[in-house]
Amino acid sequence: MKVIFEYEEQTSTGHVLVSGEEEEEDNINIVSDELPKDLIRKELPLPNVSEVNVVRHYTNMSRMNFGVDLGFYPLGSCTMKYNPKINEDIARLGGFKDLHPLSPEICIQGSLQLMWELEQDLKKLTGMDAFSLQPAAGAQGELLGIMITKAYYNHEHEKKNEKRRTKIIIPDSAHGTNPATAAMCKFETITIPSDAHGNMDIYKFKESLKDDVAVVMLTNPNTLGLYEEKILEISDLAHSNGSLMYCDGANMNALLGISRPRDQGFDMIHLNLHKTFSTPHGGGGPGAGALGVRSFLEDYLPLPRIIKQKEQVQKKQENNNNNNNNNNNCKFTLDYTKRKSVGRVRYSYGNFGMLVRAYCYIKSWGANIRRVSEHAILNANYLLSLLKDDYELPYNRKCAHEFVLSSKKFGEKSALNIAKRLMDYDFHPPTIYFPLIVREALMIEPTETESKETLDRFASALRSIAREIKENPNIVKEAPYTKSISRLDEVAAARKPNLRWHAPPKSDEKGDRRGRPEGEVEGGG
Ligand SMILES: Cc1ncc(COP(=O)(O)O)c(C=O)c1O
Repeated sequence: MKVIFEYEEQTSTGHVLVSGEEEEEDNINIVSDELPKDLIRKELPLPNVSEVNVVRHYTNMSRMNFGVDLGFYPLGSCTMKYNPKINEDIARLGGFKDLHPLSPEICIQGSLQLMWELEQDLKKLTGMDAFSLQPAAGAQGELLGIMITKAYYNHEHEKKNEKRRTKIIIPDSAHGTNPATAAMCKFETITIPSDAHGNMDIYKFKESLKDDVAVVMLTNPNTLGLYEEKILEISDLAHSNGSLMYCDGANMNALLGISRPRDQGFDMIHLNLHKTFSTPHGGGGPGAGALGVRSFLEDYLPLPRIIKQKEQVQKKQENNNNNNNNNNNCKFTLDYTKRKSVGRVRYSYGNFGMLVRAYCYIKSWGANIRRVSEHAILNANYLLSLLKDDYELPYNRKCAHEFVLSSKKFGEKSALNIAKRLMDYDFHPPTIYFPLIVREALMIEPTETESKETLDRFASALRSIAREIKENPNIVKEAPYTKSISRLDEVAAARKPNLRWHAPPKSDEKGDRRGRPEGEVEGGG
């Protein structure tokens, strides 16, 4: 596909074809009302392309991409469920989209109420006592949780004069952001291997649980899509050791209305609102990684906190301030009292648009939200049952909302080849090579929004690829054939991205006025 600079220079940039001179004259007449004629440049290094070609160019480019509105997107661990469009409409209402972060409280009562109510819903779903909506991603929620852990122990140690807790226990199936967060907060990670059932090895865990362990950081269900079967024993052991329990709640899509992380013994949890509560994500954001904590950690949360005034207090304030036009008669207020807060992790209240979408999603399910997880689990187990004979299932258990297969019997790089070939069947590939403990891993998360018909088609594509590998392996090795590009050197694309267009050299000029002169741009892959 051409870049926009490569189109033939056209005489007209509008949607009606007029001659170049006519258009130039029109433009000069419009602009010269505002600017003196001698200051108007005749030439600008911009492409001269008609409106219809601009529209076609960008529409065609968007069709080279893949999104959840185009087809099945079973990217394990990412929860690429369909995002209901009603949530988009509501997030785009003027009162939400035009909100200024420095608006006075009195002008943003509706938005404060929305965030306060979202916090109440998240508390109900997780069993936690307080939430901060500030973190802008799951990883930032983790960071906040571990910053709070540090502050909590610093405070406790000062009180009790205890030994410093410098370690975090993390199982080897964890998402990479968990040990990365531990390292950012200058904790040492103790990695616990998984046992033959895909649980954290309880014996190794017990051996490692010493009085220098600050927190046990678990994902439940874990990244193999399996429930941690000994979770209650693990949290009891951790608590009697004086350690905290942190839940990476990125997999909450398996628990909604079914089980509360607080009841599993967790003291903190971050939720990936963009995944579980269906706000569009992918390509790096935006996200929302709300952090929930038990009451003894609430004072460490970032500021401001959103407070709902008790009815009597509010009435009293309203009477006192009857003719006084200040903010004291607000039902929802922002509390900046410092207590032990670790400080802000993000400007304003976080990614507010994401919060609106998550709020709409939760409210639209209401008391039936359990159905989301029930269907997600049903879909994953159904798909697993269709595929486990053609691929290997490393841990032969019923799964939660996702599952991990291995294609190692098809040889080295088979997971990569299968992922590429799936694109020819018009499916987004699953996550591959994660979790790291499964060789040639294919991590599949169908989500609750897919129909049986879609799951059947997907299973049939994967089975047919398994047959292709046996009968004619080269077909799979060179796939995809139907996309605008085939195989990329992904390492070079990431390490040496070629992000600038170079004008082809013109025989009569040193450089092209529309591109960059040669030699000016570095790199390029
Ligand atoms: C299990 C798990 N933990 C943490 C994260 C990090 O979340 P985010 O990408 O929002 O930073 C992810 C991301 O998908 C995840 O799957």
